[in-house]
Amino acid sequence: MRWNHQFHLPHAFVFLIFTLLVNTATITESQATAKEILLQFKGNITGDPYNRLDSWVSSGNPCVDFSDVFCNPARLVDKIVLWNMSLVGVLALALSGLKSLRVLTLFSNKFEGNNPVKYVGLQTLWKIYVSSNALSGSIPDFIGDLPSIRFLNLSKNAYGDQSNFLVP
Ligand SMILES: *[C@@H]1O[C@H](CO)[C@@H](O)[C@H](O)[C@H]1NC(C)=O
Repeated sequence: MRWNHQFHLPHAFVFLIFTLLVNTATITESQATAKEILLQFKGNITGDPYNRLDSWVSSGNPCVDFSDVFCNPARLVDKIVLWNMSLVGVLALALSGLKSLRVLTLFSNKFEGNNPVKYVGLQTLWKIYVSSNALSGSIPDFIGDLPSIRFLNLSKNAYGDQSNFLVP
């Protein structure tokens, strides 16, 4: 029995440490990815007159330190809620990499350009609230077809062709 204990315990211990390391590495990796994505989103914002994105820095944890970013219990980005902040810029392509994003609320800013077609990858998104910006081009076909979408407000923008959304 004595030998058994001495033989098996270290193995169990090594396994436990290995499991902890692997889990930690996984969490760190997904948060690093989310951070890179959010920093790219910030990088496409050319005007932030109230310095609302000052807390979005590479040394921060996006779930804890980034203002107006909310994560789910699995520590993946769940909501981005930035409204009425006079932010100027384009919607970053990179945002399509946030695979758990459910809410994108950016109303009353000055986002311009189009909704990137890459956002078709945002399969969990149920709320897009980008009213009162300067988005232009045509409203992409996919946007109303996102599988989880329940709330879509694109009003008060500069979209040219809204024929996709006209009821015949
Ligand atoms: C947005 O940021 C990406 C890098 O993340 C850059 O390649 C791209 O040119 C930027 N777009 C605009 C319109 O500034």
